[in-house]
This record gives sequence, C-alpha cells and structure tokens, in this order.
Amino acid sequence: MGGKVSVTAQTVLGDPAFATLKSLVIDTTGMAFYRDKSHDLAQILSARMAEAGADDCAGYFARLTSDSHEMDALVAELTIGETYFFRHKEQFDALRDLILPDVIERNRQLKRLRIWSAGCATGPEPYSIAIMLEREFGARISDWHVTILGTDINQKFLARAREGRYDTWAFRTMSDDIRDACFTKHGNQWQINASFKRFVKFQYHNLITSKFPSIIDNIAGFDIIICRNVIIYFSAETIAGLIPCFRETLSDKGWLVMGHAEPNQELFKDFQTVNVDGAVLYQRVDGYSAQMSPLPASSDVAPMPKSPSAMLPKLAAMDTGRLAPARTQRGAAPPPRPPLRPPLRPGTATVAKPPTPVVPPVDGGVVRIRELADQGQWEAAAAACDALLARTPMDAWAHFYRAMIFEQVGQAEDCEKALRRAIYLDRKMVLPHYHLGLFLLRRDDAAAAARAFRNVLSLLKDVPDDDPVADGDKIMAGQMREAVAMHLTMIGGA
Ligand SMILES: C[S@@+](CC[C@H](N)C(=O)[O-])C[C@H]1O[C@@H](n2cnc3c(N)ncnc32)[C@H](O)[C@@H]1O
Repeated sequence: MGGKVSVTAQTVLGDPAFATLKSLVIDTTGMAFYRDKSHDLAQILSARMAEAGADDCAGYFARLTSDSHEMDALVAELTIGETYFFRHKEQFDALRDLILPDVIERNRQLKRLRIWSAGCATGPEPYSIAIMLEREFGARISDWHVTILGTDINQKFLARAREGRYDTWAFRTMSDDIRDACFTKHGNQWQINASFKRFVKFQYHNLITSKFPSIIDNIAGFDIIICRNVIIYFSAETIAGLIPCFRETLSDKGWLVMGHAEPNQELFKDFQTVNVDGAVLYQRVDGYSAQMSPLPASSDVAPMPKSPSAMLPKLAAMDTGRLAPARTQRGAAPPPRPPLRPPLRPGTATVAKPPTPVVPPVDGGVVRIRELADQGQWEAAAAACDALLARTPMDAWAHFYRAMIFEQVGQAEDCEKALRRAIYLDRKMVLPHYHLGLFLLRRDDAAAAARAFRNVLSLLKDVPDDDPVADGDKIMAGQMREAVAMHLTMIGGA
C-alpha cells in the first residue's frame, strides 16, 4: 500500500469486507454506536483508507491489524471528545461535599489518594478534580501521595490533555474568577497552572481491550473512578462486562461516578447506591451487595448536606438498597475481547523471549499477590509478598511485585530498592527496568531514567513486534518499544 488513493463512502459501503471491518472497529473500540451508523462509519473509513493508501476494506483491515499507528489514526476520527471543566455541577458538588471528604478521612493514615478519570478526552475532567482538590482540600493533603490518572483510547486527545491548553469554550460553566486563578492566558487560549498539573498523569488505556484491574498498568486500587459520557457509545453487553471490572479496580469503600444520564441501576447492584441532589453515586463495599430497589425520582432525592461532617452519617440513610452478602466479582462476565490483536499501549510491561505464552511465569504465590494487588488490597498483597519472599528470597518476580506495592503506598525508597533487587536477580526481565525508568523520571533523574529505558530497548532488540509479553497483561513487544521511545523523546534521551 503506497500513497493516497481515491475511496468514497459508497465504495466502502458496497465492499464485501465492510461488515468484517466494521466488526473489527466495534470490537476494538467498544463503539457499538456505529452499528446503526454504517454511512457515518463508511465516511470516516473512506477518508482514512484514502490517506493510508488502502483501496479496499480487506486491505485496510490487514493494515489496521498490523499497524497500531493506523488504528490510532482511525480511533482519533471515530471518538467523540466533547468535554468541559466542571461538567455536570451536581456531580462535582457530590465529589466536594461527600466523596472527597469521605476518602480523605479514611486515607488519613496512608496519606494516599488515587483517582481515575476513564475516558478523559482532552483532560478537563481530571484537571477539574485537581483544581477542586487543591483549592478545597490543599492544606489537608499537602504531604499526600496524590494521583489523578486520566486515560483515553484517543492518542491525540491525550497529547492535548498533557499540554493542558484550552479554548474559552472549555470554561463555559466555570466562573472567570476560578479560571483566572488556575490558568494563564496565552493568546486565545488558557494554560493550566503547574500547581494543578502536578497531580495529573495521562496514559493510554482502552476500556475494551486493556486488561483491568492491572497493577502493572497502574490501573488498580483507586479511591474514586469517574467514567462519564464514555459507555453511552458501548453495547449493553459490553457495559455489563465493564461494571464489575470497575468495581474490582476500586479499593474497598471506593466510589464510582458514572455519567448522570447513563446508569441502568440493575448493573450496579453489587455497589451501594447513594442518591444525592442531582447525582447517583456507587460505592464498593466489600462483603455486601446492595439489592435493587427503585431509586427515587430526582425531585424526591434529599438535598445534599453541605457540611462533610454532617454528611457521612447520612450515607446509610441515603442508601437505596438493603445489604446482602456480595457476589464474587471474579464470577462476573468479563468484558468481551476482540477477536484480533488490538492496538494496546503499555503503561508498563515485561517481554518474554518468543514464543513464550502469556502466562504468569511464577507460582500460585505470585498469582495470588497479583490478584490482591490488582484489587488494591495493598496490605494483604504486601503480606503475601513478604511470605513468598521469606520462602524464596531470590524470586525476582516477587521483588518486582513488592516494588509495585511499595509504589502504590508511597514508599518510594523501598520501591526503588525492590526494583533494583529484581533487576539484580534477573537482568533479562523487562518490566523492572521499565518501572525503574518511570520511577527515575518521577524523581526527575532523566539521565538515569534514560539508561533504564535503553536497557528495555536493548532487551527487546531481537523480539518481534507482535510477540506477547509474559505477565504483561497482553502487551506486545512493539507496543512496549513505542512507550519507551515516547519517554525517551520526552526526556530528550532518544
Ligand atoms: C465524550 S468524551 C467524555 C469526556 C469526559 N469523561 C467528560 O465526560 O467530559 C468520551 C471519551 O471516551 C473515549 N473513549 C471511547 N471509547 C473508549 C475506550 N474503548 N476506551 C477508553 N476511552 C474511550 C473517547 O476517546 C472520548 O475521549
């Protein structure tokens, strides 16, 4: 396939392989919304096919399944990134008045706060949370380890999110005072100030094809998950598979905030449902499962109490369900997986020597540690890890997972030591080098980070792009290389 060719929506619609191409798109992105929009989809596909030099659907299908850049380019055209700061005020009121005070109180010993904005588009949602945290709770959490992670499937949105510059339209519901206090004007745009940016990280994550929870991908143990205006494009079956994954990705008592128009309450029956003024919230409560009872109409919902201390005891009263033993989430339907290899992006990964199958390379002890860590049960995961290390002190994987757990609980020095120990014990494991690179980046040690990332590249030198990564949550060698190249470029070490 060479340069540009001429393709029209009509020829795409009449192509015998269009149906297969359409299935690939829907299976990879979850956007079942295109099922009834063949013409719109054909228009988008024809433009990309012309650009990519593919003159029929079969050729473009082959291209998409072998070239993650082309899949990214297509996804950039398919996804809808409508977003703005403090979108849906009632939900942000609930965050400020109920959810954040609750989490901050419960985590006061650990001094750690983890928030995931899933499907963050160009970033206003995670930045709004950062602004709220800093302005309303800054003094209480000044020495905390705070992470606000924004993820999306659209790489272009993520690049703009990292930049943090917005047009006036993004501030349509924000007061000028707050905008002026939190942003700096550059021409017609506004740049978010560094003090709000420091908590927020952006990372590629496809809700449909990236496995989660996943401690190695940093998608685990969140206190709050906010996923709004994303699943509206997905099929009912896909959504039903995703909700249990969100639940498992929360810590016990963690909160899930979905778009205000989305919730089909039946899907959230394993959460406690909390109704507040204009918002429905879901809380994971281990050991219990709230049975369904009809939610009151919004006019019947009790107004949100404004004082956090007055609010917490009211939680039980606002809970619409009765308590019953929880179902195990492992038994819940997993999200559907696409039939073809999706264009995954690693947050982190380890590469196996080909043709090693994607199976955890160590015994049940590590499998159990992984399970606990993925669910954010840091103490239990750490105890299981220590027990394993007492039996097998030379187990490089156990040291690696210990490092991941240290990282989550903010024990930076121990994290670094455990990573270095894992590397010392097995220099060929890629994940510890990669995580060491990330760790050193966070410590602003760019030169050392670049060395760690180069070690990853050198270990991957002869590994074909499409070879799976052992214990790397289905990440491919080529994708790992791309992630490393991105970090090296960003630190000027390429
Ligand atoms: C309408 S925006 C919502 C932005 C923000 N959450 C809000 O409510 O303002 C939907 C976002 O979901 C992202 N998205 C769509 N499919 C996705 C998937 N499979 N995995 C992750 N993100 C996805 C899109 O790229 C887009 O940025």
